[in-house]
Amino acid sequence: MTPSSFISAKAAAAALVSGHIVALPTETVYGLAARALDADAVHRIFLRKGRPADNPVIVHVASMQQAQGIAEVSSVAERLMQAFWPGPLTVVLPAKPSVPDVVTAGLSTVAVRQPSHPVFQEVLLLVGEPLAAPSANPSGQPSPTCAEHVLADYAGEVPVVDGGPCVVGVESTVVQPFDDRIVLLRPGSITRQHIAAATGLPVTDADQEQRAASPGTRYRHYAPHARVRLCNSQAEVVACLAARSAQPTKVLVLSPSRLDVDVPQRLLQRATLYDELRSADQLAVEEILVHCDADVRADEALMDRLERAAEPASSNS
Ligand code: TXA
Ligand code: MG
Repeated sequence: MTPSSFISAKAAAAALVSGHIVALPTETVYGLAARALDADAVHRIFLRKGRPADNPVIVHVASMQQAQGIAEVSSVAERLMQAFWPGPLTVVLPAKPSVPDVVTAGLSTVAVRQPSHPVFQEVLLLVGEPLAAPSANPSGQPSPTCAEHVLADYAGEVPVVDGGPCVVGVESTVVQPFDDRIVLLRPGSITRQHIAAATGLPVTDADQEQRAASPGTRYRHYAPHARVRLCNSQAEVVACLAARSAQPTKVLVLSPSRLDVDVPQRLLQRATLYDELRSADQLAVEEILVHCDADVRADEALMDRLERAAEPASSNS
């Protein structure tokens, strides 16, 4: 196996069994995978990402039965899994003692999900064990949504299985189920309305303690180098353009619909958001004006990523 090349699913499984880390496609974003029960291998993920040790990683499983091997699956959790697995829903559950501390960041819970991407499923079956996998980007950068993003981020030093562009494009919804409610820790393409409808339980926001236990929600994420400004209307975009500090060529507009402005514009949608942020950086764009119309503002997952991308770098923790 040459470390700088694309590898097959079979080669990836063999590398994982030997304790190495590899990047794999999921339907949401590419993940940097290691065997979840091998603490040393998971530790190597943290080193590769520059990830703070207090940020736990998601464990990917082949089935609900495999989830039951590492976590206590309540009846509410089972309902969630039946409704949304395989798919972009991560469920935070009490961890069994076999789960290494490096995976949970020392918490009593573990986050699990069954991805729907056929390549990730194939590797899970070949390895026969759960795989820990955070998004395959250096901490704080936009998540990778195609194999080329991973190669670029790690200068070809992390082997990657090419599974094409991710269809969802933003990270999974993360929830913590209780008997009487579901706490939403990170919005994703499975919305609070979907979850409430499937379980008949109220979906509530995380309180301060729960937010502290899900540190990924604390860090500045998904951020390009360009300054990102959110505008609620075409008129606001036009006003920002009039007041801009950057050259016209250094400004990009992201919008769900074509606007009547004379700077380059690209389509705003979940599936390609991170690719657009990355492309803007490659073109040395200094300012990205994002047109958040009413539909965009109603999309909790998209707004969450946009608001994080728009935060000033100094708010990084
Ligand atoms: O779509 C996804 O979820 C992708 C793909 C690769 O599966 N993975 C991903 O992982 O986004 P990562 O590490 O970038 O985000 C994991 C999120 C973080 O916000 C983390 O804090 C939270 O899940 N998390 C993990 N374990 C947790 C736990 N035990 N309790 C609360 N939150 C947890
Ligand atoms: Mg991430």
